Amino acid sequence: MSVASFYHIEDMRGMKLYLDTADRDRITEAARLGVVDGVTTNPSIVTAAGLGYREAVTAIADVVDGPVFAQVLADDVEGIVREARGYQEWADDVVAKIPATRPGFEALARLRDEDVPAGTTVVFSIEQAVLAAKNDASFVAPYVGRLDDAGEDGVDTVRRIQHIYDTYGFETEVLAASVRNTTQAVSLYEAGVDAVTLSPDVLDDHVPHPKTDEGVAGFEAAWGDRGSPIDE
Ligand code: G3P
Repeated sequence: MSVASFYHIEDMRGMKLYLDTADRDRITEAARLGVVDGVTTNPSIVTAAGLGYREAVTAIADVVDGPVFAQVLADDVEGIVREARGYQEWADDVVAKIPATRPGFEALARLRDEDVPAGTTVVFSIEQAVLAAKNDASFVAPYVGRLDDAGEDGVDTVRRIQHIYDTYGFETEVLAASVRNTTQAVSLYEAGVDAVTLSPDVLDDHVPHPKTDEGVAGFEAAWGDRGSPIDE
């Protein structure tokens, strides 16, 4: 296998980077880095932010250029379909997150027929990811950190899902979630994952490097008090 095909270079569509939070200030701050393609939420995140779900989604949609992912709370097919349809009224680009349960997959099939954007979340197995792709899910969200917590290899599970999707040409976006640190994030980038969602803290951890600080300090010391070149 060539290096190019291992890293899916022929097939490169660009990687999406989402923020996993309902904290509007952190979203605004992160968006200024110019790399945020959308925001993912879940009931825990929205509750931690002290917000109602509609309130959170509309507030996020105001400050982010890209999709806002909103998770359904119902656990029966009719309830899931009703919530996913209803979320569409909240903002322009809302994607429903539906857990990988039997009612969840049945609801996904119904929503596909109605062209309601929806994908599969709380994914812990390759089998679930295959069902999502066969259902034309917008995305599939394997939980990397929680797979590791359960004694499995989260990054490797994502790598295998991505390989299967690329092999069959499934268009469902592989959206790695529950990413706890930059080491996991970098392994996911190496695996050629379609998308990752990161907490604002893990995104912030992408920036600093002590050698960068050292390098910049050295240049500043060399330049001394000569002022900005633009003022010369
Ligand atoms: O997107 C899912 C994510 O928020 C779950 O993360 O750290 O609770 O496993 P964690």
